[in-house]
Amino acid sequence: MNHFISINQLTNEQILELLENAGKYKTTNHKISSQLFAANLFFEPSTRTKMSFTIAERKLGLEVLNFHAEASSLQKGESLYDTVKTFESIGANVAIIRHESDNWITELEPKINIPIINAGAGKAEHPTQCMLDLLTIYEEFGRFKDLNVVIVGDIKHSRVAKSNAHALKRLGVNVFLSAAPGYEDESLDYPYVSLDEAIQYCDVLMLLRIQHERHEEKLETSSYLTQYGLTKERESKMQQHAIILHPAPINRGVEIDGDLVECSRSRIFKQMTNGVYIRMAILTHVLKEWGIIDENLIKEC
Ligand code: CP
Repeated sequence: MNHFISINQLTNEQILELLENAGKYKTTNHKISSQLFAANLFFEPSTRTKMSFTIAERKLGLEVLNFHAEASSLQKGESLYDTVKTFESIGANVAIIRHESDNWITELEPKINIPIINAGAGKAEHPTQCMLDLLTIYEEFGRFKDLNVVIVGDIKHSRVAKSNAHALKRLGVNVFLSAAPGYEDESLDYPYVSLDEAIQYCDVLMLLRIQHERHEEKLETSSYLTQYGLTKERESKMQQHAIILHPAPINRGVEIDGDLVECSRSRIFKQMTNGVYIRMAILTHVLKEWGIIDENLIKEC
């Protein structure tokens, strides 16, 4: 049985099914009629992912086990594996994990016997963010094929860029990257373009946060917006129908002019809303895959 670790594990059909189920959860309430426990194990800070998983779990009727790393036995030297194994042993039915390491799953995968959902792995992958971005794009355009999506910013340190680029490409999107010098990622084989050109033909401008916490040297950001960010002048040159995405948290005035966060083409807050419903779909998907529930236990209410 698969843990939910990488967007690359899903077929296109499974991605589309998750989007459809998220749409269903948006319009009608559903609960799982069985007592199940979800452990939210965040070893790295989070606001959106942690809280939207919490709401998704509560909406589905799951019991939420919140874990605070700073007040846990990690402080006594307990390892990641022993922490997760403890939650498995005391009865958690699913573990949602975020950790700063790129490959924490390698150690856990063979030895943990409850489904794990990757809520962010270092610079490697953020598949649930990718799924909520796909939902937001699909709701806007009703398709993926032949859309032009430009992923802009700190590509090198971004797990969001990696998950999204691969999934979008597979779904028929023309994927482009745009980064300041030094923030390119050679592992991603997509064309790099200048932002000033890209804004004229993109359907989706996917901005990324400057990930200061992953930089070895502090970036001087005073001129970043005018050189590499979305200014009001650049935004005014976008196609009328084009939209702006950003996974957040946002450095207002750095990767985007602060006033544009709430502009009419911004879907940034819609992304956050969609995060709840796609995570409901992901939770039920993995619980079904692992045989913990079947469709009959998901009741419309
Ligand atoms: N987009 C995202 O992962 O936000 P958080 O770090 O607040 O969870």
